[in-house]
Amino acid sequence: MRRKARRGGGRQVELTVEALGAKGDGIATVDGRPLFLAQTVPGDQVLARVTGERGGGFKGEVIELLQPGPNRADPPCPFFGPCGGCALQHMEDGAYAAWKAEQLTIALERKGLQPETLHPLRRVAPGSRRRITWSALRTAEKLLLGYYERESHQLADIDSCLLVAPELHALIAPLHAALQPVLEIREQARVTATLCETGVDVLIDSRQPLRLIDRETLAAFAEESDLARLSWTDGQDEPTPLAFRRDPLLTFGGVPVLLPPGGFVQPTAEGEAILVELVMAAVPDGAETAADLFAGCGTFTFPLAERMQVYAAEGAEDSLMALEAAARRSDRAGRVQAEPRDLARFPVLADELSGGDVVVFDPPRNGAREQVAEIAACDVPTVIAVSCNPTTFARDARTLVDGGYRLKEATPIDQFPWSGHLELVAVFER
Ligand SMILES: C[S@@+](CC[C@H](N)C(=O)[O-])C[C@H]1O[C@@H](n2cnc3c(N)ncnc32)[C@H](O)[C@@H]1O
Repeated sequence: MRRKARRGGGRQVELTVEALGAKGDGIATVDGRPLFLAQTVPGDQVLARVTGERGGGFKGEVIELLQPGPNRADPPCPFFGPCGGCALQHMEDGAYAAWKAEQLTIALERKGLQPETLHPLRRVAPGSRRRITWSALRTAEKLLLGYYERESHQLADIDSCLLVAPELHALIAPLHAALQPVLEIREQARVTATLCETGVDVLIDSRQPLRLIDRETLAAFAEESDLARLSWTDGQDEPTPLAFRRDPLLTFGGVPVLLPPGGFVQPTAEGEAILVELVMAAVPDGAETAADLFAGCGTFTFPLAERMQVYAAEGAEDSLMALEAAARRSDRAGRVQAEPRDLARFPVLADELSGGDVVVFDPPRNGAREQVAEIAACDVPTVIAVSCNPTTFARDARTLVDGGYRLKEATPIDQFPWSGHLELVAVFER
């Protein structure tokens, strides 16, 4: 490493990127400590500036790419770089896929774990996101809509996005136009758009009070964009529908569910199909009862209930109510028992789970520490984990293995292409 003189900003260094970290940033070494450089690949020779501390090392930015590494590729999106929506478009596809799959193995190895069978990476194509959250900010000049840069308060204003399905892409320009007169200067909003079977469901979340004229502007936008529903929330009160043109429906295991505004669903239909396929394949023949923990609106509950009795627990009351109402209207009413339950504060106890045949759990990114302690102590023979975070999954897997389960198989799934995030399904048995 050759040091250059300080020139404004932080210290400048010339170095070679050695590895790719868990969030998709390149890692080089400065003073024996890691320097994280976004949008670099191993082998890149760069002139970089150290901009601050990060974890046990430094963060920095590339001033000049002196020599590209062997797996560098041209990013397909013109917004790649300033936009924080993607971290890894600048890497050759094969190397990218290998890195993605490796994130699961690395996380498990750190906890001393290895699945008996590790399946190859299953992939979901970009351009298939059916659920997305954009940020909006009204400046004095214009309305910005897009994604925040990583670790920054800068919002990248986009007019296209290669991640989302065409129906969501078609909303970017009309949303700019509709929010411009509605948001006051310096006012922010978050816009969650979900592509349902009956059209797009939009939820706008902003602290700003709505005037009558704003309601009219947004209702007209819903009409012109043929939305299924458009709702507004201040983040405290129940969302208010400003336009309700069709029921926003998604079908899980043959059961149509009327989604709550902004309610969680898997971000892609393809990813959901892979998850359901893997979960159902792991359910042993003859299983009669299952617990579906962190059930959402019933992604796994309804396919499971085709074959068995299901107890579904979920913390978000609106999602749970949607699941319950859909079950009541379906032919599976007698097979689904749904309970609103905070599984961090009131996990389903080992004694309650014991005697069942299958547990499925699919927690948020911070994992299921408290719930997994109970699962580890129960006698259910098959436990199926779905996770969008290999690190918290590996921590929870360790608890299950320490409780006597075997980690039978695991499948990494790239449901979040070009990002550092990885989805996975794992099967435990005792
Ligand atoms: C990754 S989503 C999975 C949902 C569902 N299994 C699916 O595939 O659509 C995680 C779910 O956990 C719920 N959740 C988050 N924290 C929770 C808690 N402490 N107790 C119960 N549910 C919680 C969220 O509301 C969300 O529905």
